[in-house]
Amino acid sequence: MNISKRVKAFPPYKSKSVGNNIRMDKNESPYPLPKEIKKEVLTELDKVQFNRYPQIAARSLRESLADYLGVGPENVVVGSGSDEMIPLVLNTLSAPRAIITPPTFSMYRFYAELNQMSLVKVPLNDSFRLSVEKIKEEIDDKTIVFICSPNNPTGNVFPRDQIVDLLDTDVPLILDEAYWEFSGSTNIDLVESYQNLVVLRTFSKAYGIAGVRVGYAVSNAAMIDYMLRIKSPYNLNSLSMITAEVMLRQHDLVEDRVRRIIKERQRIFGRLGDHCYPSEANFLLLDLDAGEYLADRGIAVRTFESELTDKVRVTIGRREQNDEFLKYIQGYIADENS
Ligand SMILES: Cc1ncc(COP(=O)(O)O)c(C=O)c1O
Repeated sequence: MNISKRVKAFPPYKSKSVGNNIRMDKNESPYPLPKEIKKEVLTELDKVQFNRYPQIAARSLRESLADYLGVGPENVVVGSGSDEMIPLVLNTLSAPRAIITPPTFSMYRFYAELNQMSLVKVPLNDSFRLSVEKIKEEIDDKTIVFICSPNNPTGNVFPRDQIVDLLDTDVPLILDEAYWEFSGSTNIDLVESYQNLVVLRTFSKAYGIAGVRVGYAVSNAAMIDYMLRIKSPYNLNSLSMITAEVMLRQHDLVEDRVRRIIKERQRIFGRLGDHCYPSEANFLLLDLDAGEYLADRGIAVRTFESELTDKVRVTIGRREQNDEFLKYIQGYIADENS
């Protein structure tokens, strides 16, 4: 078979993490789904006709999401993880250039390159802030901008006035809010007034169902209509739809877990302050090259191939996991200082 040159140039996907006992590398929720919620999902699943395709365009999940978000169902499209939303947005827009702000989520670059877009990097400054003026200098009518807030892997939120400043340029802005629940700040309301905004969200982080893969995009009705036209018709399976719907009814549980993660994040930050950057997400970026050290002790954290090679990103876990992590990382710091 004649494999496309473009595809041959892609390395196999690997998420660079090391260690495998306590998983603090993928920004997942550390909490398993409670038994009674699993039961509810299975009861609903029992009603599904497995020989039939799932509901087209996930109508009822979109309606539930619309209720939750205070928008119309015509403003929402759902998919198999928010990852799936990225190529969907790129395929919908006619934009051969993408601006990214490294260090940031690697999949923007991946899909932009897969779509043969030219990639413009406007790095964050030394304090991980956006260089809005530099982004604006790079913008033209063929450009889209990716912003992740809170940003993965730095953990900081970008101020609303900067987002508005970028939206005022009229360029399409893809705003990834995968971690917004841990920060409490969102710009999703701006979808109402800005036609050039697409917000991406996921059930993989605060909602804790990364394994069933549900994400969504929120934008103006025309943009969503075009996205619905080109997406694969049955992109979300029945199990995923049902689980997401059930989780949308679990506000108290989700809020409680988010609160606990924030508390744990603050506790770790308090202990490691000088060695980690402030974060408003469910992870912390550490100024410590401790990937191998932690891996040898059974703790998986995210390491980096470029830009942040001397740092690791650690996902906040349950209290006992964090205690284990703190024990070893403090050992690492003591070793380094001795
Ligand atoms: C910023 C960001 N966006 C999107 C995703 C992907 O989420 P999903 O599981 O919904 O595909 C991740 C996953 O780590 C992420 O960090």
